[in-house]
Amino acid sequence: MKLSVSWRASAAAAVATATLLTSGSIAGAASKTDVEAAAAPDIPVANVKAHLTQLQSIATANGGNRAHGRPGYKASLDYVKAKLDAAGYTTTIQQFTSSGRTGYNLIADWPGGDTNQVVMAGSHLDSVSSGPGINDNGSGSAAVLETALAVSRAGYQPTKHLRFAWWGAEELGLVGSRYYVNNLSSTNRAKISGYLNFDMIGSPNPGYFVYDDDPAIEKTFKDYYAGLGVATEIETEGDGRSDHAPFKSAGVPVGGLFTGASRTKTAAQVAKWGGTSGQSFDRCYHSSCDTTSNINDTALNRNSDAVAYAVWELSE
Ligand code: TRP
Ligand code: ZN
Repeated sequence: MKLSVSWRASAAAAVATATLLTSGSIAGAASKTDVEAAAAPDIPVANVKAHLTQLQSIATANGGNRAHGRPGYKASLDYVKAKLDAAGYTTTIQQFTSSGRTGYNLIADWPGGDTNQVVMAGSHLDSVSSGPGINDNGSGSAAVLETALAVSRAGYQPTKHLRFAWWGAEELGLVGSRYYVNNLSSTNRAKISGYLNFDMIGSPNPGYFVYDDDPAIEKTFKDYYAGLGVATEIETEGDGRSDHAPFKSAGVPVGGLFTGASRTKTAAQVAKWGGTSGQSFDRCYHSSCDTTSNINDTALNRNSDAVAYAVWELSE
């Protein structure tokens, strides 16, 4: 069965269960079957920014980048892993080789949930060698990390199993994520209900783009933005240009968010989102100026909350 169908089916079942509970004699009794109780938390953007400050420091201490095969990459991975280990995650480092250098993916499983239904959220943790990669992709990496930490703080125990991932060597051509997908057995691949990708979600002149892929995932993000009263557009700056592509090729339902790279923001887009027309969404894309100054806090805040919203909604 297609994932989007089962998500809709379980949502319908949840509504039916909630109706029974509230109309029956046991209404008011809080229980595990009271499925409407688990609301996604607001993700503190200050925490997300604190992770970006740490990633910036790591780059600065390691020749100005966090690129595949360079010491700043492994230091970034160790930073994220330590936070997850302290929060109760089961972490795994997956090693691979690309361009003659060792690369690493970090996988973090939240204990519990139905491991036959795995909801994954991921982001690439490597930068290009020309800069520290704070928007690309410290932003997605920090938002996914803070969402994982929020799961732990909330003691969230969803019906489905949660897995978070930080990919290596995306900038060399989606190498880490492809390695992960290629090394999954077909059985384990089939257990992944959906993969959510976050690559560049705090662009300084932001657009609000939603991947046009799995309908249920796409709707979840659009619902979140509708609740904010913020317009979204479909992501068109290169489908297949990030780590969701290997999952999609393997038949896993995918989705994600994006605030734009080198493409130019139009006057029509400025009318809905503000910012500067005729200028790139990210003027520092793949450059040395992709520092902590290269982040729009409003975009980072909204998208961090959207990550948590989707993780909660799609796993309950
Ligand atoms: N993945 C690209 C990078 O890391 C950025 C990018 C371009 C992108 N187009 C995209 C990311 C569309 C997500 C969706 O440089
Ligand atoms: Zn990039």
